[in-house]
Amino acid sequence: MRLEAVGKVDDFVENEPKEVQIGARRIAIYMVEGKFYALKNICPHQEVLLHHAPPQNGRAVCKGHGWEFDLKTGKCLRGQKDHKVAVYPTKVEDGILYIDLG
Ligand code: FES
Repeated sequence: MRLEAVGKVDDFVENEPKEVQIGARRIAIYMVEGKFYALKNICPHQEVLLHHAPPQNGRAVCKGHGWEFDLKTGKCLRGQKDHKVAVYPTKVEDGILYIDLG
């Protein structure tokens, strides 16, 4: 487990994804119904950044060509379904959001 603090919970807005960078990793953070999700921020189709579009129905939506990814598993649910993006566990402690880089 490698927890990295990525910001105060109050810095995130419901349904407005935000990118954080940890080293070379670009990670999209989503807050949906008060829960946090962290996904690799690069669409496997043509590498558009995922955080530019709001989530819909529990899915990250790529504004490139509309592929959709499950926020919990990273599985592609619309588009080429054998693709996925990496997901990272999240944790909130004392008002700080952490993600687990494994
Ligand atoms: S770049 Fe994401 S769907 Fe095409």
